[in-house]
Amino acid sequence: MESQKNPLVFLLLALALLLSFAAHIGHGESSRPTPTDEIQIDLRRKRNSEFVTWCIAKPSTDNESLKRNIDYSCGQKGVDCRPIQPGGACFLPDNLMSHASYAMNLFYKSAGKNFWNCHFNSTGLIVSLEDPSLAPCYYPA
Ligand SMILES: *[C@@H]1O[C@H](CO)[C@@H](O)[C@H](O)[C@H]1NC(C)=O
Ligand SMILES: *[C@@H]1O[C@H](CO)[C@@H](O)[C@H](O)[C@H]1NC(C)=O
Repeated sequence: MESQKNPLVFLLLALALLLSFAAHIGHGESSRPTPTDEIQIDLRRKRNSEFVTWCIAKPSTDNESLKRNIDYSCGQKGVDCRPIQPGGACFLPDNLMSHASYAMNLFYKSAGKNFWNCHFNSTGLIVSLEDPSLAPCYYPA
């Protein structure tokens, strides 16, 4: 009998102790921000400031459309495509997808970052939080 009662008593005691301990911690720490709070504060700050977005080419876009997007974007006022020329900071990786994304993002930014400025006949994709920049090439936000 005793050997069956003891574990139960011990368990209840341990539970009571744990609860009072948890309550104590909960009370004592309530004014200090936890890591979760800090993440939430960070998100709130992001929401309050301008939400950072970039425009890139959809990965499924065919080369002809990518070329068209480069020609169109780089032909617009306020779009400087020198970084994707040989020797520029954004020349590498040297492929159409990367060059088109860079040019499309510049156009998107110069046009005012409206969602329709990244349409490109359904070949544009607006991304946020995931900065497409890859050093030394920085996509202006
Ligand atoms: C598209 O262009 C890239 C170079 O930017 C090339 O590697 C790829 O083979 C081309 N794709 C097609 C389908 O021509
Ligand atoms: C837009 O996409 C459609 C369908 O894919 C195509 O027929 C048309 O030529 C494209 N227009 C431009 C301006 O790229």
